[in-house]
This record gives sequence, C-alpha cells and structure tokens, in this order.
Amino acid sequence: MKVIKVEAKKFSDKILSMKGISKKTVEEHLKLYQGYVNKYNEIQEKLSALKDDDFVKANQVFSTIRELKVELSFAWGGVINHEIYFSHLGGKGGKPADSLLKQIEKDFGSFENYKKDMKATAISARGWVWTGFNYREGRLVNYLGDSQNTYSMWGVEPLVALDTYEHAYFIDYGVNRGGYVDSFFENLDWKVVEENFQDIVGCCGEGCDCE
Ligand SMILES: [Fe+2]
Repeated sequence: MKVIKVEAKKFSDKILSMKGISKKTVEEHLKLYQGYVNKYNEIQEKLSALKDDDFVKANQVFSTIRELKVELSFAWGGVINHEIYFSHLGGKGGKPADSLLKQIEKDFGSFENYKKDMKATAISARGWVWTGFNYREGRLVNYLGDSQNTYSMWGVEPLVALDTYEHAYFIDYGVNRGGYVDSFFENLDWKVVEENFQDIVGCCGEGCDCE
C-alpha cells in the first residue's frame, strides 16, 4: 500500500468557546482526533512494509494483514468523522437555509421531526450518528454507528456527524446524553452543513453559479 500521510486539520477557535460543550471537553477530544490521524499514518506504514510471508499467512481468524486492514478502517473513520464534527461546530444553531431546509422538510416532514429523529438515533447509538444523503434514493437519512467504522450505509454520504462516544460529553453532562445532543444543535454551524450538502448534491439553488 502506498503511504498517503494525513495531517490533522486546524479547526475554528470558536469550538473552544461554545455554550454547553466546554473548552476542556473539546481540548481533550482534539487529542483523540490527533491520535486517529497518527494511527492512520502508522497503519499505512505497516501495510506498506508487509513482507511476502505476511501475504502467505493471510487468515480470517487472525493474521497481520487482517488486523491492519480492520484498524485502517477504524482509524480512517476516526479521522473523517471527527473532521466533519469539529468543522461544523462553533455556530449559532437555528435552522439551515434554502435548499437544505427544503430537503429536510421533504424527507422528514418538518425540521422538528428531523431533530426528533436525530436525537432519538443519537440516544440509540454507541458511537456516531450521521445525517447522510442517499444518492440512489435522492434523500437524507439519519443513521447510526456503534464505532468509527460501523454501520456504514453504502452510497450514503454524511453531511452531519454527531459524536455520541462518552468522551464527547461525559465531562459536561455525565450520563445525560440528551442534554449534550441539545447543545450540539445549539452550536451547529448550518452554513458549513449547507456547504457539505452542496458539495454532495451540486449547487443548483438560488444564488448558485451553476447554469
Ligand atoms: Fe470522538
């Protein structure tokens, strides 16, 4: 495997002064993100250094190549999930505008229904909740993961990522995950989410440059 080194992204300073999600929580959380970046790079190095013997000994119960491939997926999930998460925090909450709000209302009935579904999905998850766009069905869906790399839905691209691991809220909320989810929405920067949405579906709404 060719090594393509990932570098940790810098995020807005606004994520260090949010309401309801403390600076301490974010600072500790960013250390975990850096850890995923480091491990992703380390695993790539190990994959690139595999010997013929490692390929010969490939085994589904235990083998070096199996363990590296499994953890590559986990580390990559940790990188991407946290980059979406930190990039769209530090905002003022509220509602999205224009085409994204219309899409949410079409797919969930109302913005309130979307948030209700997202909160319940978050409380049901053991790792992550995403809002993703299902390319084939042309609609948004809220889905959950019990770790960084489960349960991906093929052909669904995430535009919102909500971390439900305890490290994301336990300092501030203890076991009250619902309170944390409310704070997540109060600090969500919908402008960033709208940009994610436009990157996925292409810009064709009011104010866009597209023909
Ligand atoms: Fe996390």
